[in-house]
Amino acid sequence: MKKSKIAGIGYYVPDNIYTNEDLTKFMDTSDEWITERTGIKERRYADRLDETTTDMGVKAAKTAIERAGTTAQDIDFIIFATLSPDYYFPGCAVLVQRELKMKEVGALDIRNQCSGFVYALSIADQFIKTGMYKNILIIGSEKHSFALDYSTRGRSISVIFGDGAGAVVMQPTDKKEQGILSTHLHSDGEEAEKLAMIYPGSAAGKGLENRPNWPDQELGGLLMTPEMLEDGSAYPYMDGQAVFKKAVVKFPEVIHEALSENNLKTTDIDLLIPHQANLRISQFVQRSLKLRDDQVFNNIQKYGNTTAASIPIALCEAWEQGKIKEGDLICLAAFGAGFTWGSALLYW
Ligand code: COA
Repeated sequence: MKKSKIAGIGYYVPDNIYTNEDLTKFMDTSDEWITERTGIKERRYADRLDETTTDMGVKAAKTAIERAGTTAQDIDFIIFATLSPDYYFPGCAVLVQRELKMKEVGALDIRNQCSGFVYALSIADQFIKTGMYKNILIIGSEKHSFALDYSTRGRSISVIFGDGAGAVVMQPTDKKEQGILSTHLHSDGEEAEKLAMIYPGSAAGKGLENRPNWPDQELGGLLMTPEMLEDGSAYPYMDGQAVFKKAVVKFPEVIHEALSENNLKTTDIDLLIPHQANLRISQFVQRSLKLRDDQVFNNIQKYGNTTAASIPIALCEAWEQGKIKEGDLICLAAFGAGFTWGSALLYW
């Protein structure tokens, strides 16, 4: 059976840089607080009006497609991972199909937040192994800045997230030391609301009758009410400590799972690219796996947490910086809302 390999990779981040200092204009925060708790120094924000999640994804995709030595017309399947889509529906993958004038190929959006890229990679891997597709485009892209609460009320979340996109083209390979060895996907919905954006959603009615001025009508009217914006419940919610505690357990666990499946050890890893959730989480994972500094790649300092885009952006940057060579053993690992988490082990 053939394996799948990353044949081309690209990323795009907007030019607009917002430093921690810049954020102090909107909220009560400080460079010291953000740096100490998250490691983040700056992040990029897409153009507020003119640049969408799909626009950024398309830019990253063009680079990945070119580097794979192929064309948009050769892509036979598209997977788009995002939690900040252009529209509530349809998803972004069809917008990419339209924008890149692709054939009428299958287009799938997945909603697995920070582990979206690893889930997408796993799906693509299965399709390529079975021979169903030969050129799969995966995009992870996020425009968080359009929806976050940049007042002091939202500071514990909004300082963490940034915008950007990464993309890969997956193709089959016969080479022994190349391509994906295995992927490992997990979830635990027990704490689904600990990191969530509840509205708009069909659960919107729950508890709404306890609010003043709720739209008391026989049907409908629950997409978004002015109160949801006023009281902040329309914005993403995160119990930071719950996320932190679970992440520092699940990251090492799922990396060990990938290694043990392939009879490999932590010392065999040439580069670990963890989802860029928080530098403190990455450092915790590094310590618990006893990895050297040169075995772990972090760029959250420059981009913040870009959710589904963070792994392909980091992978591409590491590759462009010459930190990944042919035959290197690369481990990708992610954890995020849901909670969902996963890993992928591959030879470059
Ligand atoms: N600037 C300044 N102060 C802030 C702040 C900010 N941006 N955000 C929160 N604070 C304040 C809080 O209001 C609180 O003040 P108080 O003690 O007066 O009530 C204080 O800082 C501590 O808040 P707390 O939420 O307990 O901080 P923390 O140590 O848990 O750090 C996170 C918050 C979010 C950085 C931390 O929980 C974390 O990293 N969690 C993981 C998040 C993550 O990785 N998410 C991505 C998932 S993929």
